[in-house]
Amino acid sequence: MCFKKKIKLYLGDAPGALRRRLRSYKQVFVVYDANVEAWLPKLNLQEKPVYPVVATEENKNIKTAYEICKWLLEQGADRDALVLAVGGGVTTDIAGFAAGIYKRGIRYANVPTSLVGQVDAGIGGKTGVNVSSFKNMIGLIRQPEFTWICPALLGTLPEKDFLSGSAELLKTFILEDREAYEDAVDLLSAGRREPDAYAALIEKAARIKARIVGKDEKESGLRRVLNLGHTYGHAIEWYQHVHGDEAPLTHGEAVAVGMVKAAGLSEERGYAAPGLASKLRDDFRRCGLPVDFPCPEQDLEEAVSKDKKAEGGRIQFVFIEKIGKVRIHKL
Ligand SMILES: NC(=O)c1ccc[n+]([C@@H]2O[C@H](COP(=O)([O-])OP(=O)(O)OC[C@H]3O[C@@H](n4cnc5c(N)ncnc54)[C@H](O)[C@@H]3O)[C@@H](O)[C@H]2O)c1
Repeated sequence: MCFKKKIKLYLGDAPGALRRRLRSYKQVFVVYDANVEAWLPKLNLQEKPVYPVVATEENKNIKTAYEICKWLLEQGADRDALVLAVGGGVTTDIAGFAAGIYKRGIRYANVPTSLVGQVDAGIGGKTGVNVSSFKNMIGLIRQPEFTWICPALLGTLPEKDFLSGSAELLKTFILEDREAYEDAVDLLSAGRREPDAYAALIEKAARIKARIVGKDEKESGLRRVLNLGHTYGHAIEWYQHVHGDEAPLTHGEAVAVGMVKAAGLSEERGYAAPGLASKLRDDFRRCGLPVDFPCPEQDLEEAVSKDKKAEGGRIQFVFIEKIGKVRIHKL
């Protein structure tokens, strides 16, 4: 299916069907997450030139992108080549960025293997790398040829990474689909982890993200709703990094806490009816997600006010009116 701005998704194929999506590409170079190596034969990629990436935030840097470019050059990748990124958000972000700078930009496509990747990172064309501890400071917005979403690949995803993705799944439904939100809470709180059980929800969430990005690729307006929960989520991540927290919340977990905060602020401003924040707290808890700040809230203000400065004094904050409807307003 195709949206404005060429956001192309292939949804629900079995692993073996990837081969047919690649038929029209003469040269395919696979950049993959070393943790998903076992999937390569099932995806029929074992015969292609492959480059493993160690998927950590520390490794998501310009040096790794440079090494990928060097490898592409050694392999003889020409201007018509396709870089196929197979992995979670770290891998698709780095590989898409490397493709964007190699020979001034060659094509790339994403095969996201994490839940974060399938409902968020693999869709929408944001690619990039970190600069020391600052996330995604160098990057490009450049759409992939396609994003190929195969829920079966989640079968080997560790529980903590599944939970991280589940927060992004819930976030997407809070934006515009109450029914899907309740279905997701039911599945998650029942402890269900079979990828098949989530296939329809992943498809819905992927389509929502693609539709939003298709309308506002460069984040000049609508795309900002995707930042729901991220103002305080990022502040938590920053705080944990600065304080060398040994068991930090994952990105998704931090966003879950940020969404509960956003619900509380929405009630305080009268944008939402009383009870929204306690509903989210209850739902998220049942899903195994954290709901409380891991540090005193005032300690996060430094990070939040940095964001404020970056946005000229007042943050465009995503408030929740009710599940399925949000609004952007200055904080
Ligand atoms: N480009 C965007 O629009 C966008 C959006 C959201 C997040 N991101 C970025 O994505 C990253 C987070 O994504 P993530 O949570 O996928 O992180 P990740 O790529 O680090 O994957 C999480 C962990 O799961 C492992 N993994 C992935 N798929 C697996 C599988 N099928 N089986 C076994 N292990 C598997 C990885 O090796 C890693 O250890 C961050 O760097 C974030 O900045 C980008």
